[in-house]
Amino acid sequence: MGSSSKRCLGAILVASFYFSTSLAFFPAHHEGESAHPVEHGPKPGLSPHFYRSTCPQADEIVVSVLKKAIAKEPRIAASLLRLLFHDCFVQGCDASVLLDDSKAVASEKNALPNKKSIRGFEVIDEIKAALEEACPHTVSCADTIALAARGSTVLSGGPYWELPLGRRDSKTAYMKLANKNLPPPNATLHRLVKFFGRQGLDKTDLVALSGSHTIGMARCVSFKQRLYNQHRDNKPDMTLEKRFYHKLASICPRTGGDNNISPLDFASPPKFDNSYYKLIVEGRGLLNSDQVLWTGKDPEIAHLVKSYAENESLFFEHYVNSIIKMGNTNPLLGSDGEIRMNCRRVNHVR
Ligand code: HEM
Repeated sequence: MGSSSKRCLGAILVASFYFSTSLAFFPAHHEGESAHPVEHGPKPGLSPHFYRSTCPQADEIVVSVLKKAIAKEPRIAASLLRLLFHDCFVQGCDASVLLDDSKAVASEKNALPNKKSIRGFEVIDEIKAALEEACPHTVSCADTIALAARGSTVLSGGPYWELPLGRRDSKTAYMKLANKNLPPPNATLHRLVKFFGRQGLDKTDLVALSGSHTIGMARCVSFKQRLYNQHRDNKPDMTLEKRFYHKLASICPRTGGDNNISPLDFASPPKFDNSYYKLIVEGRGLLNSDQVLWTGKDPEIAHLVKSYAENESLFFEHYVNSIIKMGNTNPLLGSDGEIRMNCRRVNHVR
């Protein structure tokens, strides 16, 4: 990345224009079983060639819209990658996260981990409109999210993967499950392992997929507790490296400033690389959920962090395995669900 774009991103640090005033705490999520068992592994209905005859240009269309969107705002790549996570962890990768509020639908967009936080919906709309024009009623919104996530990763300098396609779209949203299944940033390592385990994802998946935080931004409200009240004792998180603490405190004051933003990876904010892990080893992970991968006293997890910090190819290799696995979570197949025309609403409102 050029130094000018670094400076430009630095300028974004204290910007609060992405978010309006917001809440300051993350209540404990209730843990328990998800509504349906999670399944992974190769799915008979999913294939990288799913649209070979019906929409061979699908990926090209996605990438061309992405290129324009990322040129306009580099951060949007991160926002789109995050959408896949927030879709797949809530009743599977079925585009339920894209549904707006309606008479019949309580939108997941209003769940605590999503509200005033997830973004990128306008770009998804643009991609979907282009896909509908080229191949009407063919490419699902769930696959649109998955293609946008892969394209965003690649365009940010990350790895490419053969993406299984053929997911169909849900006819409803799962707001309560979004509150239950999406991990909060102040989660302990033990809880993070549980959240991922509930999705059929293991410790390697947790560490590799957390590496998505090599791009993108977080709001002050997402890391404030670490700076001022880590253990509800009015003290900072002692695992924060000192200079990093002061830098963060200047962005995120004790009171107010909740929507000020900071890069998740200070070393190279828009570049998908392994610097996220290098920072964690130095005590400069932004979220509690990032730092505990190193300080949480799990030797297997700490070893993975160190290995990825030392070996970017290993990180990319594991990342590809894990994101394919996450993307295979409970897809709707065959005649289940539908292919939504507009990702924000179901086709026929009953
Ligand atoms: C391990 C558990 C995780 C936790 C607790 C977590 C939490 C968060 C939080 C709190 C933010 C900032 C949101 C805000 O302040 O508005 C964030 C941003 C982000 N997360 Fe995660 N996340 C986790 C895992 C993941 C995974 C698995 C992915 C992708 C596969 C991901 C991708 C992202 C990206 C790319 C951003 C930046 C988004 C942007 O700039 O718009 N995260 N995450």
